[in-house]
Formats: sequence, C-alpha cells, structure tokens
Amino acid sequence: MKAQEAPKQSFLEKFKEIQVALTFRDVMIVPGRSEVEPSEVDVRTRVTRTHRLNLPFVSSPMDTVTESEMAIAVARWGGLGVIHRNCSVEEQVEMTKRVKRAEALIIRDVITVKPDDTVGQALALMKKHDISGLPVVEKTRLVGIVTGRDVRFAEENLLVKQVMTKNIIKAQEGISIDEAQKLLHDHKIEKLPIVNETGELSGLITFKDILLRGKYPEAARDENGQLLCAAAVSPFDLDRAKKLDEFADILVTDVAHFHNDNVFRATKKLLSEVSADVIVGNIGTYKAAEDAIAELEEVSGFRVGIGSGSICTTSEVTKAGSPTLFATAQVSDAVAKYGADIPIIADGGIRTPGDAAIALVAGASAVMIGNLFARCRESPGTLITIGGRYYKQYRGMGSITARAKRYSIDRYSMPAKGVPEGVEGWVPYKGEVSIVLEELTSGLRASMGYAGASNIQELWTKAQLAALSPSGAEEARPHDILLPSETQEKV
Ligand code: XMP
Repeated sequence: MKAQEAPKQSFLEKFKEIQVALTFRDVMIVPGRSEVEPSEVDVRTRVTRTHRLNLPFVSSPMDTVTESEMAIAVARWGGLGVIHRNCSVEEQVEMTKRVKRAEALIIRDVITVKPDDTVGQALALMKKHDISGLPVVEKTRLVGIVTGRDVRFAEENLLVKQVMTKNIIKAQEGISIDEAQKLLHDHKIEKLPIVNETGELSGLITFKDILLRGKYPEAARDENGQLLCAAAVSPFDLDRAKKLDEFADILVTDVAHFHNDNVFRATKKLLSEVSADVIVGNIGTYKAAEDAIAELEEVSGFRVGIGSGSICTTSEVTKAGSPTLFATAQVSDAVAKYGADIPIIADGGIRTPGDAAIALVAGASAVMIGNLFARCRESPGTLITIGGRYYKQYRGMGSITARAKRYSIDRYSMPAKGVPEGVEGWVPYKGEVSIVLEELTSGLRASMGYAGASNIQELWTKAQLAALSPSGAEEARPHDILLPSETQEKV
C-alpha cells in the first residue's frame, strides 16, 4: 500500500471548515411585522416550471403513501400526489390514469360501446371503470346512449342497440359549463355527449364532474379540468417513463443519490424523450444543484433532502446525508445564483406545519410528505389495531420488505442494495387526509403570520431564522407539566 498522499487541504482543516447541517429542530422563525392576518395569507405555489398548486404539499412516492386514492384526495384539496413505482409499469400507469379520469371539464378519452356489443359487455365496462353510462358509437358517429337503468334488468345477451336510448340529448363543441349544467338539469340527465360539426363524438360532460368542481374549488387541475398527477420514475427505466409520460403531468425521479454520473447520463436521455415536466432528485448540496443546472437544461424541479425521512436509516447506516433544511438552503442558493427557474420541493422530516414553514423560508416552494400522509385512510398501508388504538403500516422504500418487491430497488446504489436504508413500522391512524391537510394549512398560515409574510415569495425574502440551543429546543416545547399523552402507555 502506498504512503498516504497529502490532501490539498490538511486533514485538520476539514474540522476547521466543517459545515453545520441544521435540521428543522434546530431553528425557529423570527417573528416579523405582519401586514396580514393568517386567514388572508396566500399559500399558492409552483411545483414545477409550469405547474401550480393551491397548497404547497406533495405526497411522497412510497408504496404505503401514494396510490390513486391518495393522489386524488391530495389534488382535490390543492396539493399533488406522486404515484409510487414499487409495482409493475401496467399497475403504475393504471393508477395514474385513474387520477386523470377522476374528474374533467370535458372527458376526452370517453369509454364507449358499439351498437352490436352485448348488454353483458356494456355492464362489464361500466363495472370495470366504475361509471354509470356509455355513449354508443358506430365507427366514430354518436348513435345512442346506454345507462345503468337501460341495462341493469336486461338480458345480458341482448344487443346494445336493442336497449339504448336513440333520442340523445347532446351538445356541440364550445358549449359553456353553465349551458351544459342547464341542459343536464332541464332534461334530468347525468351525461351530456359532445359532438363536432360532423356528428362525431368528441367528449362527454357529466353531472358528477360539475358537482365535483363546485365541491373542490381549490383542486389542483390541468387545463382540461383534470386533477394534476405526478408519477415516480427511475432514470434507468425509459420504457416506464415513456408510458407514464402519456398520462402524468409530472415525472419525478426517485433516486436516493441523484448526484451521480450514471444517473445524470440516464436522466439527460430521459429528459430528451419525455414531454412531461421532470422533477429530479434527491439532491442535497449546492454542487449537485449547480451541476444539474449546468448539465440538465430541461429540469423542471428539484427534490431535495437526503436522509431526513422518518423511516430513513441512510444517515445512520452510511453516515452520509444532507438534512432537508440544510439541503434546501444549499440548493436554493445555487438556484438563485444561476437565476434558474426551478422550484424546490423539500423532502423528508416534516412533522409539523412549522417544519413546512421553515422549509419554505429556506427557499422551498413545496414540501414532500410521507409519514403524515401514511396515517390517513387514503394511503394504501394496512390498518391494524394495537392496544385498542388504530395504526397504519408505513415503510421506507429502502426497507427490507419494500425492496423484496424489487421494482424500485434501483433507488439505491449498487453495492448498497444489500444494506437496508429504511425501516418499517406503524403510524397512528388519523382519518381522512383532508384533516391532515387542514391542520398543515392552518398551521402554515399561522407561521406565515408570525413571520410577517403574506405569501411564499415573502417568506423567502423577508422571513428570518434563528438557531436554537439544546436548552432552547427544550423550552420551545411544553415543559414542567405532565401531559395526558405521557400518562398513557406509548406503543
Ligand atoms: P417522511 O419524514 O415524511 O419522509 O416520512 C419521506 C421521505 O423519505 C424518503 N424515503 C427514504 N429515505 N430510506 C431513506 O433513506 C428509505 O427507505 C426511504 N423511503 C423514503 C423519501 O424521500 C420520502 O419522500
């Protein structure tokens, strides 16, 4: 073995120039003069160069957090869900399609039947897609409509043309939503087929979609009124990325350490082959952001933070990581220095609305959340009871059981594949995700009020952070009181 080569910097210098990787628990927001009340604070944001959200909350692509149900619910309240990739391509595409089909101004990929199809086939289609009526189309011309009522009691081997309604109430392209609503109302019907000048079916407006628009006015929607949906991808699986690209608005690379030559090369190719906005990550340093800005021109967002997630063991096992707050500040500085138009999503370690506010103060545009959403009804994890209380399963994507499914194993580097970088366990059940979103939003508004910021841009420019000493952190929590939760046995 050769003698130790002297580094450019002395080994002791490494200690002198050591960086302080502050975490959410180490800082507080310094109260500032406020011009607005918390209820008037604007929490709207951007999650990529082109996509806006009404809430700065994104659900993490983890197989105990985000499938269609979670993505639909989070988008309806104004945030965004990222569908996980620990499943087959077909399953992930299907979940993404389900979110995009959940509602629309005008449905464009209308599910139809032919006049010579059987009632049984029509019923099967309605069941498969959970819909109550189908336009009947001959070649491309609209010739009728069948509803649940027409087919429910009919013989399954009858033909659709024998039971369909031929006298169809329809509308021309260009009809306004108000006019459509009036037609649906006047004729007491639920579905209004839209046709072009030559009578071809070009869309469908449903009463359900109109109701949903009124019920969720703050939903994050695309220009067709469909809910926004993102999907996780591996930069090394171009085929999956291209299939998802047909449906997802945003693709999110799902790699534990994005700042890697092979990952950069693969992502460069991916960026040139897909049309959706692409958020890349995870990154944790100024240099990683600088390199990505220089080498990956089309990047549309940064996913930032390494090792802070509540289920992460990366920092413990490898002693490498970049806590989300520290990482966010580093990446924000690089983005500002180069004037790059790249929103930052702070990912991992968010336990309270205040943590989210601190991430935004450090330059993030949104925060990504696993743990708090895993607790909800809409997450795919199993619900169990322990000691008479409800819990939901939650696991890291680097945990042994998540890796056993193998689909997202390339999230972690090659030699590390044998080393778990995550744990699994249970989190207390919370109910609907709307409850968690409501708590996060109210708390964030209050933090912004204290910071004296009326919107997220003002948090970036006006709000100040102060470091807490260990005794300060102690004082910042309830103290010198026995709380009811502490008298009960903790599981
Ligand atoms: P929270 O704190 O919300 O964090 O639970 C969710 C984020 O944690 C990351 N993640 C992991 N990190 N090992 C890791 O080191 C894992 O097994 C793991 N699984 C998820 C991911 O960034 C997620 O959004």
